[in-house]
Amino acid sequence: MSTTCFNAHILTLFPDMFPGPLAHSVVGRALDKGIWSLSTTNIRDFATDNHKTVDDTPYGGGAGMVMRADIVGHAIESLPQEAKKTIYYLSPRGKTLDQAKANEIAKAGNVTLLCGHYEGVDARVLDYYNVEELSIGDYVLSGGEIAAHVVLDSVVRLLPGVLGSEESLVNESFENSLLEHSHYTRPLVWNGLSVPEVLLSGHHANIDAYRLEESQKLTEARRPDLWQKAQKIK
Ligand code: ADE
Repeated sequence: MSTTCFNAHILTLFPDMFPGPLAHSVVGRALDKGIWSLSTTNIRDFATDNHKTVDDTPYGGGAGMVMRADIVGHAIESLPQEAKKTIYYLSPRGKTLDQAKANEIAKAGNVTLLCGHYEGVDARVLDYYNVEELSIGDYVLSGGEIAAHVVLDSVVRLLPGVLGSEESLVNESFENSLLEHSHYTRPLVWNGLSVPEVLLSGHHANIDAYRLEESQKLTEARRPDLWQKAQKIK
């Protein structure tokens, strides 16, 4: 089977954090197989002073330091042309990553992720390179690298040939805006708890109906926001 390689580029002050967790499990095996590639650019390599300074105090005052536009800009310029097309900046201000966004990135064939630190990067870089801000949730991390791992894990597992049929994408949480049903395996009885009877029936239509109903109940109880979305696409 021939698959085109998905290319991920990371702009970071901490290249040693990659591939990190992405070298393991299905995503790591896909990296070994060449289904996707990962390259890092150390933003600090583009600093021009002896101290390799990448940040400075904010205009207008205030706490923290800001990553300089000229240095981050030079790091971006060093990327191959295709990697400059779609750049995401990991930031709590961005649109929150969801399954639809992960699918969109997976289909694009490549992605560049800019990881900030301190108070973030000079806003002119984001404007100049048409960078889209992307968040992984409503909390603040100390830098973008862990968020970049999350984005890449969610994207790479969607690439053709990454998941085996036993780890299929069918019926996953968020497909159809529903949370996934529960799963059970041996032993049949554990600590006095049995597996739901219908799953032992061998009746596939009943099993599918049971799982769908469980998905719907779970989604309605835990994620009213998703449940509303699911109602609309029915
Ligand atoms: N950097 C800091 N916090 C973040 C978040 N919640 N999502 C993405 N990048 C971040």
